[in-house]
Amino acid sequence: MGTRELEGSVAIVTGGSRGIGRGIAEALAQAGARVAVVGRNGDSASAAAAELTGEGHAGFACDVADPAQVNATLASIEEALGPVAVLVNNAGITRDNILMRMKDEEFDEVVAANLKGAFNFTRAVTRGMMKRRSGAILNITSVVGLTGNAGQANYAASKAGLVGLTKSVAKELASRGVRCNAIAPGFIRTDMTDELTEAQVEGLLQQIPLGILGEVEQIAGVARFLVGPGASYITGQILAVDGGMVM
Ligand code: NAI
Repeated sequence: MGTRELEGSVAIVTGGSRGIGRGIAEALAQAGARVAVVGRNGDSASAAAAELTGEGHAGFACDVADPAQVNATLASIEEALGPVAVLVNNAGITRDNILMRMKDEEFDEVVAANLKGAFNFTRAVTRGMMKRRSGAILNITSVVGLTGNAGQANYAASKAGLVGLTKSVAKELASRGVRCNAIAPGFIRTDMTDELTEAQVEGLLQQIPLGILGEVEQIAGVARFLVGPGASYITGQILAVDGGMVM
């Protein structure tokens, strides 16, 4: 893509210090956005922001699961960078366990980070986006939120919850010029999936029609498209980017 279609806009990427979030932050930076990298660790967020293409990026420490921190962080972001045009809710965790052994904390922590976190940031940016009658919100869900997965009841529930959140936000804000979509990645090579054993990867590849794991850039390019002007007539959609796993 040669154009810088997000030139001058401010974009927030939660969990942007590494993995898919970092890739999305870089893609949005290449599109001309000034990126607020939000992470639990402020130092890694700032370090990641400093490495992005172009100028004007900044890192912010925030636990997305905590609404008070999210509201305060949004205020700091707008003070430092200006009004927010793009929000990418990417922060997420796994705490896998079989149902019988799953602890309350394992369920609650995953829902708090993955689902409540996206709600917290979406609610925080809503007033400004509605006032400006423009904005794009992108949630990173998972194919697991569409299909379910043994051993991931907490994670799959949180990611399915994001599907409902995405469609509700899309309906509620459409008349104000704000779009909301989601990407459902399949298996993408990151720290999160590095924990898989070779046998697990072999098993996965059998279920992926394109026959390979995905790369961060293959999510980032789609994210850039969905928050940009090329997708101005797309809202409320869940786009699987998964090598054909879920059709
Ligand atoms: P990752 O573990 O490399 O990165 C996640 C980032 O989110 C980390 O920087 C982490 O510190 C941050 N984070 C987690 N909880 C947070 C909180 N409460 N507040 C602030 N930041 C927080 O994971 P990866 O693979 O890059 O995943 C990114 C997103 O994509 C996640 O939502 C994940 O569920 C989703 N996803 C990943 C897939 C994969 O194959 N890697 C597949 C499908 C979805």
